[in-house]
Amino acid sequence: MTTKGVLSLPHLMGIEGLTRDDATLLLDTARSFIEVNTRQLKKVPALRGRLVALMFFENSTRTRLSFELAAKRLSADTLSFSSSGSSVSKGETLLDTAANIEAMKPDLVVVRHEASGAPWMLERVMSGAIANAGDGNHEHPTQALLDAMTLLHRSQRQPKDGLAGKTVCIVGDISRSRVARSNMLLLPLLGAKVRVAGPATMLPAGLRDVYDVEVFDDVDEALCSGAPVDAVMMLRIQKERAARAVMGSDDDYAVGYGLTKDRFARVLARNDAALVMHPGPMNRGVEIDAEVADSPHSVILEQTETGVAVRMAVLYLLALGHSRGVEGGAA
Ligand code: CP
Repeated sequence: MTTKGVLSLPHLMGIEGLTRDDATLLLDTARSFIEVNTRQLKKVPALRGRLVALMFFENSTRTRLSFELAAKRLSADTLSFSSSGSSVSKGETLLDTAANIEAMKPDLVVVRHEASGAPWMLERVMSGAIANAGDGNHEHPTQALLDAMTLLHRSQRQPKDGLAGKTVCIVGDISRSRVARSNMLLLPLLGAKVRVAGPATMLPAGLRDVYDVEVFDDVDEALCSGAPVDAVMMLRIQKERAARAVMGSDDDYAVGYGLTKDRFARVLARNDAALVMHPGPMNRGVEIDAEVADSPHSVILEQTETGVAVRMAVLYLLALGHSRGVEGGAA
């Protein structure tokens, strides 16, 4: 048993509310699970006998698969729900669906929903610890944690050392991005400088009043002025959450805001170790050129790999806080 504490909160609803100690504990625990995931036998008995409900009301590839794999690597049982193919299509509500899954007594509940605040709705009818796997345009806390873990791992830093001295530039549809929101909270909490850039139509007003970030509507200025950027995090346009097209064509967007080969070459001219990140799914040729996405500077697939360990840490620590007597541990 290597965990050095418990989270200060019973659920992981967002990065908002997490302390730096919470974030460090999550990342430190994830680090030990990264080691587990390199073993030939990649399974620990930590959550044997526990039930994890995976409730996905919105499409997902990475988050869903990595939470499922995380639960299995911790020896938990899983209930896998997705709204497509379920009785939601017959008109069953979120709360009725949740009440029926609660009747099967999950210890942990992972939820993704298109409505911001859905995890708090579930808290009313479910007694397990809840992990938010993305709610509307509000938060995606495990994505931010895996992004931070990827940066720490690449810079060979311990979680307790944080990301002081690092500058991360987040580019894209900031207003509709739950990934941006969670990262704008977590990266400064860990000591990083954060810049956000995008078209003015995709930058919420008053961002600087709420978050410790610099805001640019000129992506080249964001990338190539001031301190050299250590990582560029590209976001796609959240077309499913936009009431109407907020930009011209995809080609116009690529020229104005995409991480093209030429634009990234200018970043590398200032820092030849700069990293490229993307939470996925990518729209190649729109927000990121294929050559940049596949370059040696890209850590996009490392983000996915790290996601498994981070989600193992989230499930493990939530279970530990939810009820005592969890067997085994990360070691
Ligand atoms: N990054 C992310 O949330 O990807 P998915 O939508 O595929 O889960």
